[in-house]
Order: sequence, then C-alpha cells, then structure tokens
Amino acid sequence: SVHERVDTFHDNDQKPVGHGRMLRKEDPRFLRGRGRYVDDIQLPGMLHLAILRSPVAHARIVGIDTSAAEASPGVAAVVTGAMLAEQGLAWMPTLSNDVQAVLATDKVRFQGQEVAFVVAENRYAARDALELIDVEYDVLDPVVDARRALAPDAPVIRDDLEGKTNNHCFDWETGDEAATAAVFARADVVVSQDIVYPRVHPAPMETCGAVADFDPVEGKLRLWSTTQAPHAHRTLYALVAGIPEHKIQVISPDIGGGFGNKVPIYPGYVCAIVASIVTGKPVKWMEDRSENLVSTGFARDYIMRGEIAATRDGRILAIRTNVLADHGAFNGTAAPVKYPAGFFGVFTGSYDLEAAYCKMTAVYTNKAPGGVAYACSFRITEAVYLVERIVDCLADELGMDPAELRLKNFIRPEQFPYTTKTGWVYDSGNYEPTMRLAMQMAGYDELRREQAAKRARGELMGIGIAFFTEAVGAGPRKDMDILGLGMADGCELRVHPTGKAVVRLSVQSQGQGHETTFAQIVAEEIGIPPADIDVVHGDTDNTPFGLGTYGSRSTPVSGAAAALVARKVRDKARIIASGMLEVSVADLEWEKGAFRVKGDPGRSVTIQDVAMRAHGAGDLPEGVEGGLEAQICYNPSNLTYPHGAYICVVDVDPGTAQVTVRRFVAVDDCGTRINPMIIEGQVHGGLTDGVGMALMEMIAFDEDGNCLGASLMDYLIPTALEVPDWETGFTVTPSPHHPIGAKGVGESATVGSPPAIVNAVVDALKPFGVRHADMPLTPSRVWDAMRGNPRPP
Ligand code: CDP
Repeated sequence: SVHERVDTFHDNDQKPVGHGRMLRKEDPRFLRGRGRYVDDIQLPGMLHLAILRSPVAHARIVGIDTSAAEASPGVAAVVTGAMLAEQGLAWMPTLSNDVQAVLATDKVRFQGQEVAFVVAENRYAARDALELIDVEYDVLDPVVDARRALAPDAPVIRDDLEGKTNNHCFDWETGDEAATAAVFARADVVVSQDIVYPRVHPAPMETCGAVADFDPVEGKLRLWSTTQAPHAHRTLYALVAGIPEHKIQVISPDIGGGFGNKVPIYPGYVCAIVASIVTGKPVKWMEDRSENLVSTGFARDYIMRGEIAATRDGRILAIRTNVLADHGAFNGTAAPVKYPAGFFGVFTGSYDLEAAYCKMTAVYTNKAPGGVAYACSFRITEAVYLVERIVDCLADELGMDPAELRLKNFIRPEQFPYTTKTGWVYDSGNYEPTMRLAMQMAGYDELRREQAAKRARGELMGIGIAFFTEAVGAGPRKDMDILGLGMADGCELRVHPTGKAVVRLSVQSQGQGHETTFAQIVAEEIGIPPADIDVVHGDTDNTPFGLGTYGSRSTPVSGAAAALVARKVRDKARIIASGMLEVSVADLEWEKGAFRVKGDPGRSVTIQDVAMRAHGAGDLPEGVEGGLEAQICYNPSNLTYPHGAYICVVDVDPGTAQVTVRRFVAVDDCGTRINPMIIEGQVHGGLTDGVGMALMEMIAFDEDGNCLGASLMDYLIPTALEVPDWETGFTVTPSPHHPIGAKGVGESATVGSPPAIVNAVVDALKPFGVRHADMPLTPSRVWDAMRGNPRPP
C-alpha cells in the first residue's frame, strides 16, 4: 500500500542504508566543468548565426537593405522575413494556437523582435554584419499599458489577423457567477483589493540557443537545443517545417536552468534550422543575456481585482476575481490547450468555500510574447498570490490573526478528494499539521510578542504567512494536451546481463537532479543499486515519447512511469526466478533485490542472477521471451496537489524603507519524498526566486515600449546576500493515485514564497495603515506605501 511505501522511504531518510539523501550523480560532472551545454557543441565547419532585433516596439517595416551585410567579410547568408515568407516559413504557431513571426515581414510588434539574421564564419563576423543591415521603420504608437489596450483609439497591434480591429486576445471565466454574487450579497463582510502580479522573467543562467545540423544526404536534421520538451518540439518542427518526424533528432544536452523559459519554440531555433538547410553547414545560435530578457517568454503580468466574502466571525464564504491579462504581442502562453489561463482556477486556495468565480480578459500589447509558467504549473503562482493576499486583507478587516483565520477555513482532511468550486479535484491534503509545524518552527506566538515590543519602540517588523495548494503533474491526457499532443509520458527500462540497468525518460532535467532521483525510484522497485542505473534523457532518438519537464510534472508523471516500468520488469524477473528456483511464482517473496522461497529463505536468486539468466544459456519458463526490459506510457488519472505553509519575518528600515528578510520557515508536503536533499535544494531555489519577485524583479517598459529590464544591471535577481538561512520542514501526505505516493515539489517554493514575503512587509507597515502594496517591494515603493501613496506597477 501507499503507506507502507512511505515508511520505506522514511527509513531511507534516517538510515545510512537505503538511498534517501543520496548525493547527486550528476554533480561530479558539473563540479569538474564536464557539463555539456548547447554552447559546448562544436561541429566541423560550423557557422554562427546572429539575429537583428527591432529597436522599437511598434513600427511598419518600409524596407530592408541587406547588401552591405552580405558583402561583409565571412558572411555566408543574410535572411529576412520576406525571404522566409517565400518558403511559407515567416510565421509559426505558438503553443497557444496563435501565430508568431519567425522574422517580421509587415510590422515589428515589440522591442527586440526578430527582423533578420546573418550567418557567418564566427559569431563576431555575424554580429558585425548585423550593424550593416539597414532597416527603414515607420514608427507607430505602441500599446504599453494593458489597461489601455482595449481603448477605442488604441492602435491595433495584430492587424496580421484577418478582421482584427482591436487588441482583444481572449475571454475566459470559471466558477458560478450567480451563486457567487448571491453569497457576496448575504455576507457580513466583503473586502476587495486591486493586486498586480508584475511581468517577471525566468532568467535562467544559461540563455537559449541551438545548433542545427541538416544532413542533405541522409535527409536528417539534428538539433541540439535548450528545450524542456524535446519530443514535443520535434513533433512541432515536423509539422511546421515539413521534415518527416523520424528524420529529426532533437537533443537537449545539459541545460542551465529552464524555469519555463525553455518550453516555447523560439524564432532563433527555427532560424538556425533554416540557416543549416540554406548553407548546408551546421549552424549555431546562442542568444546573449539581453536577447534572453527582452525577447523570450516572460511570466505573470496579471492585473487582478480580488474580492472575498466572509462572516463577521471569520468564516470565508466566497472569492471572486476579475483579471486583466497582458499577453504581449503574440499569445505564446505555454499551457494545455483547454486552459488559456493555465490552472489559475485554483485561486480558491486551500479553503472550503461556498462559491467562487473568476472572469478574465486577455489583451495584446507591444511587449515580448510569452506567458510561460515561470516555476509554477501554469499561472498557479498568480492564483496563490491573489488568494493569500486577499485572505490577509480580510484578516486585517476582521482584526483577526492571519494564522487563526487560515486554520479556521482549511479544507478538512476528511473532505479529500475535495472538488473545488472551480472544478479541481484535490487528491489529498492534511493542512492543519503542516500549518502547525510551520508555526512551531517559527515560534509564532513569540514572534508576535517580539513584534509588539518592537512596534512600541517604533521599529518595523513584519510576520507574513502564506499557505498554498499547488496542482502539478499535467495530464491526464483526456483533459490536457499541448497543440494536440496528450500530456502523458513514456519510460523504458533495460536490465543488462550483468545486472546493470538503463532507464530512458521522456522528461528532461534542467538541473533538478533527475539522473539521481529517477535512478532511486527504479532502485527502490527492482533492488539494483542506484549507482548501477544510468538515466538517459534529452535525446529523441534514444528515449520514448513524452511531453517534457515543466509544471513540476516530472515526478508526478514520469516518476510514476519509472516506478511502473520497474514493476513490470520485476514481474517478469519473478517468473524467471520461479523457473530458476523450481517453485511456483506464488511461492516467492521479494526482498531487497532478491526473490526468496517462502519458508526457505536460504534458497534465493538476486535480480542480478535473474538478469544473467534472462540473457544467458538455459531454458526460460514456458512463454517467457529472453531479455529483461519493458516500456510503458503513463497517463496520470489526476494532477497531484502538494501543499505548504510558509512564514516569513522581515524588518523594514524606517529611514530607508529597505526590506530585510530576516527569517523564512518553509514546511512543504509533496507526499512521498524521494530524495530529501534534492527537495531541500529545490525549495531553497524557489524561496530565493520568491525574494526576487517580491522585492526586486520586474520587466517594466517606458511609454515608448522600451524594455527597462534588458540586462541584469536593471533586472535585479537575488543573490546569497539578499536571502536568509532557510528553515525547512516537511509533512507527508501521499498522493493516493501516484504509484509511490509522490507529488511534485520543484515549484512549490516559487509559488508560496511571494505572498508570504509581501504579507510580511504589509504587516510591518501596519502602523502606517497600509493594507496592500504591489511587488516588487523596492525601497521606493515601500517608502511610497509608508507615506500613504502606494503606486501600482
Ligand atoms: O518536473 P520537475 O523535475 O521540475 O519537478 P519535480 O517533479 O517536482 O522534481 C524536482 C526534483 O525533486 C526531482 O529530482 C525529483 O525527483 C525530486 N522530488 C523528490 O525527491 N520527491 C518528491 N516527492 C518530488 C520531487
């Protein structure tokens, strides 16, 4: 049963045997500089590609003169949108069934948009030639503020779409509007608050890039690229470029962080493919930091109005929200097709409500396309931020402690599986112990006493709480697909004659430690030590089809696939063992990698013995083929719903308005824990992300549409200096439908930490009557809030 499995894994936490906190198998490679990233790929005769980008946010292209660039030393080709259009390749589909220009033909629609590319002998020659391309722009008014995108006089950005006369992108709603209105009408207390989740960028350490190598003799395209979803990308290249799918190999080698940024197909990848076909040579494209920040998938950019209805004694009845979503110039949102707003529907949070309703309008603006899920499963970060902020606003209105208010309204353990008022079925949860553990670790009551004493002395200390429920592990495939590809994962396991094994995954690690944890999952099931199990991923020619790694789906989907494929191999091994021991299958017991005869434990064979027999001489039982391997495709029956309780303590300098995160307690529940050390690493990283978003990060634009976050001097990301020593804890509520009870965890901390930090800052500013201030809470914003003049971003 699931619970027995949990115990095994728990033992591993404690004991030196077992593989709980096993060190990462990939680290010797990374620590010794032996990682192999796309930019490390060097092929004979390889050319280099550089992209000319628009300096303006909105303009008609009057003409492009490439003659000087073509004559520049070392240049092999200069390609414009018009040339791509002749091949039908100037536009490509986005992950949201919109289209995006590969190279602009008619207009440029955001600053940094791809206009032309140069292929040259080296990257310097390519960049030099870019300077020689002469583009004449007829500059148009840009739409920078989503609030003004639907004004009748706003310039129409997407006039490429037939009949388009405004900047409307889509409308979406969820929940029951009338039922929610009725609950609001009879509530004692209603609180509403405008809340902005600003545009931020995943900013992975490694930028995006590709090496394309089209072999005209074989007719085969090899593409090394920074992709979180190699198989899905291969299928899309086949559909768009018309190259047969079996003649495309997408290789995603070591990836230096993805965080959602490497889910979409970017124009640069397509340009590299075209360039290799045109020149007959391998072509490398690697973007620089500014290109990554201005042109690749952003995240968030939701302008929200939250409303919450409750009884006077603090029973939360309903939540309602209205969202204006800024999708940039092309809708490049990465989310399952049926979910244009991702999984934002979980804005009902961890509370047992009577009603909920959300109405959303999405618009086009002259900003980079995207809407990628930066370390969250499809807009859950925005949803959790909304609910956890508005619950704090309610606590303020009621004069109630925010921890007490949450504890009073949690979905109770016996209510699981719990169907929310927006239709999500939370698989399992036990919220109160998680909350109580966080409060105990933080010393919550003592912190409140300390705060009262400090307030009396005029010091600004704040305590912020956030409690989240995440929904991770997309599919099931019947509900979830990306451009028609169902969200399920394949997995293959082969045990070699000497008992060493290789497991091939469809997901792709970007630093999460899959080479370790997937070996651990398989080891747990078939008793081969993890060191003897190689994990292969990120190469479409050598792994089974699946939808890739994002939305913390690897453990919920591929982790389940790995456990089940290992069980399938073990079932076959059991039959072979029964033949070797000359007993029936029912007379065998499985323990620690060996089959033993019941009642006669001295008679046994190890999994390694079985592997040799499976491939070796001698008879196998009737009907059993040789070899010891299996393949499966796992289609999850539901998402998994991890949860967590976060408590943040901040100090605000009353003289400079500088916020210091003094303490942060994070208690996460991701069900069965495979590798506690890796989980801690994931949580530390996500909490650091949260400090960045809450206090520092924003992709802002000036009124002309210039991106103001185009370098890491302007787009501030957190370092070790800005973060405290994280205090982590855990509870374990297994997922009932996952074969080992595991839920995802990769993104939990990014989702849960921003509201905890903002709630803490707002709490610190209570003496000034502040109820809300928008992220990022930079000193100037905090200063404005203290002076009763909060500014929305
Ligand atoms: O899809 P992604 O790998 O980004 O997220 P994940 O499935 O949450 O896994 C992140 C890392 O944490 C992987 O190495 C997992 O195996 C590990 N993990 C774990 O050890 N135990 C869990 N219950 C969940 C994840």
